[in-house]
Amino acid sequence: DDEKDLQIRPPVVTIMGHVDHGKTTLLDSIRNTKVTAGEAGGITQHIGAYQVVVEEKKITFLDTPGHAAFTTMRARGAKVTDITILVVAADDGVMPQTIEAINHAKAAEVPIIVAVNKMDKEAANPDRVMQELMEHGLVAEEWGGDTIFCKLSALSGEGIDQLLEMILLVSEVEELKANPNRRAVGTVVEAQLDKGRGSVATLLVQNGTLKVGDPIVVGNTFGRVRAMVNDIGRRVKEVGPSTPVEITGLNDVPLAGDRFMVFEDEKTARQIGELRAQK
Ligand code: GTP
Ligand code: NA
Ligand code: MG
Repeated sequence: DDEKDLQIRPPVVTIMGHVDHGKTTLLDSIRNTKVTAGEAGGITQHIGAYQVVVEEKKITFLDTPGHAAFTTMRARGAKVTDITILVVAADDGVMPQTIEAINHAKAAEVPIIVAVNKMDKEAANPDRVMQELMEHGLVAEEWGGDTIFCKLSALSGEGIDQLLEMILLVSEVEELKANPNRRAVGTVVEAQLDKGRGSVATLLVQNGTLKVGDPIVVGNTFGRVRAMVNDIGRRVKEVGPSTPVEITGLNDVPLAGDRFMVFEDEKTARQIGELRAQK
């Protein structure tokens, strides 16, 4: 893309951290919805993708179930994250999946913001969290390092505004840009077979604009975008960069981490899709 075509796009933020440290609750709190309550056993069954607006600026969030799907996506070469929020429960401290998340973010060269969660708890010990994370190379600004730590409670909502401020700050420094005036490309966040709708895929548009009717190749699948539904369940006709959207119209179910690309005409999309499916 030419520099002149590039426009500021929202950051894509991944929330990572150990099991039960409060990733989904944090996301709920941010969206002011109740995803956790609706989940079977309060365990994230899939990656959720949502967009929120803070001070008229959009932020895209990806929730992760433990790390399995994210690991798959990364193994498949998908680079979707601009900023990682590392959630660490203040009463539990650094745990194995906390370290795994740090390693993911470091390998992908993604900036980390630490969310020291559950500050409302009696046993909360943020200094211990800071100490433990220092041993993994994340030194808090207040201790002379350059890692942003936000102490908060996903449950009460305290400290969340500050976290959102920090996300916007880091995002500005990153100067994230994309060209909305081109055919869309991006990555599959999740996909499944729906009894009524057939193949349903949640895509993250990373560059360009995706439109209903677009001929598309998604991994080894292909089709025409039949319908698009955004993160709040509304039908939309087109979506720009950094936007998650659920699409129907594919001939089969793609895999998380698959790349997608829009083509000029359906014939080309079909040819490429069929060729890829044969491999
Ligand atoms: P997985 O998706 O299973 O890895 O868990 P998660 O990291 O998404 O954690 P989840 O949001 O499901 O929260 C786990 C438990 O911790 C739930 O019972 C939450 O209510 C609780 N919890 C989350 N945040 C806070 C908090 O700030 N304070 C307190 N006291 N409890 C919290
Ligand atoms: Na949980
Ligand atoms: Mg969760």
